[in-house]
Amino acid sequence: MRNLKIDAERLWGDLMETAAFGATPKGGLARLTLTDEDRKVRDWFRTQAEALGCTVTVDDMGIMFARRKGQRDDLAPIAMGSHLDTQPTGGRFDGVLGVLGALEALRTMVNAGYETVAPIEVVNWTNEEGSRFAPAVIASGVFSGVFTRDWAIAQKDRSGIAFGDELKRIGYAGSERCGAHPLSAYFELHIEQGPILEAENTEIGIVTGVQGVRWYEVALKGQESHTGATPMTMRKNALLGAARLVDRIETIARAHPPHAVGTVGLVEVKPNSRNVVPGEVFFTVDFRHPDAAVLADMEAAFCHALDEVCVPLGLSVACEKIWDEAPVHFDKDCIAAVRASAATSGYSTREMFSGASHDAAVVARVAPTAMIFVPCRDGISHNEVEFSSKEQCAAGAQVLLQAVMDYDRRLAEQKR
Ligand code: GLV
Ligand code: MN
Ligand code: MN
Repeated sequence: MRNLKIDAERLWGDLMETAAFGATPKGGLARLTLTDEDRKVRDWFRTQAEALGCTVTVDDMGIMFARRKGQRDDLAPIAMGSHLDTQPTGGRFDGVLGVLGALEALRTMVNAGYETVAPIEVVNWTNEEGSRFAPAVIASGVFSGVFTRDWAIAQKDRSGIAFGDELKRIGYAGSERCGAHPLSAYFELHIEQGPILEAENTEIGIVTGVQGVRWYEVALKGQESHTGATPMTMRKNALLGAARLVDRIETIARAHPPHAVGTVGLVEVKPNSRNVVPGEVFFTVDFRHPDAAVLADMEAAFCHALDEVCVPLGLSVACEKIWDEAPVHFDKDCIAAVRASAATSGYSTREMFSGASHDAAVVARVAPTAMIFVPCRDGISHNEVEFSSKEQCAAGAQVLLQAVMDYDRRLAEQKR
C-alpha cells in the first residue's frame, strides 16, 4: 500500500483538458482570476472532486477545499494544492500542476482504497497571480491573517471592477469565513519557474523557503502639453521620469548581486497620444531578495531615486507599498517528508529557495508547509511557451503523494 503510484497519463490528460479554459492561440493560458474562464475551471475542479467522493466547500474569498474524510475526522486536514488562475499570457503549468497534481494524488489514494488518518484536502487558492487584482496571494494572505477580508474584496482591477463583485458574479463567494479552516500541514507542488533544476539535470527540487517580495505602485504627475509647441526646457514629462526610474530600478537590483531582482512590469501612460507630452504615468515595481535587510536597502535606494529623478523634472510623485512579504523558511518536518518521499521514489534532488512567490509562502505562517519543484523547459514561466513534460509533472505528483502519506503516518503516531 505504501507503493501507490500516480497515473502519469491521467494527470497529463487533466492538464490538457483544463487548458481549454482560457486557451490562447500560442498554446498558453489567459485565465485571469474571477473571470468566466476561471469559473469554468473551478466548476470542472468541483465536478472532478465530487466524483471522487469529496465534499467541496468554498470560503468567502472563493478558496475551494475538496475534502476526503480521514479515519480521524477530529484532526485538521493535511492539505495540498496551488492555484488555477494564470497570468494574461501565462502557461499551462504555473499553479495548475499543483492543483491537478494534488487531485491526481488524491484520486490514487481513493482508487487504491488507501485511508489516511487525517482528512486530506485539495485546495484551489483564489488570485495567486496578482495580475488582475494586486497583490498576489491575496486569498491565502487573508487565510493566513496577512490581509483583512474587507480590504481584499475592495481591491479593484485596472478597469475599476472590485474583487468582491467579481467573486459574487462568478458564484464563488462562499459562506465559510476565510481563515476559519485549520490545517495540519500544507504541501504545494509547482514548476520551478527558473533554470536551476533543468541545468543540473535534477528531477525534484526540495523547496526550503521563498524569497521576500515588495511591490509598489507609483503615480507620476507632470503636465500635458503640445509636443510641437512646448520647448524641451519647459516640459513636465511624466514618461521621462518613469523611464529614468525604470533604469534606476535596474541599477538598484544590480547593485545587490547575485540574488536581488527588480522589475517594472506594468506601465500606463496618459493620455497616450503621440503629440501630447505625457502628463501622467502609473507603473508598478517588484523587488525580490531572500534577505529582508537587503530588501530594506533596496527600498531606501528606490525612495531616494524617486526624489532625485522627479524633483528636477517638476513631477509630483505618489508611491504606495502594496505588498511586503518577508522571506519564509519552511517547516522542517514537512521538508523532511518531501525529502523522504523523493528518496523513496528514487528521484534525483536538490534543496533550493524559491525565486517566485507562492500561496505556500503565506500559508506557512499558519500551518507547517513545504513545496516540491519540478523543472520547466529553459526555466521559462509566465509565458505561453512554459512547458514541463508528462514525466516531470508525474514525478512531482508522485513525490507529493508520498510526502502527504508520510506526513500522515507521522501525524498519526504523534496523535495516537
Ligand atoms: C507569482 O507568480 C509571483 O509573482 O511570484
Ligand atoms: Mn504559481
Ligand atoms: Mn505565477
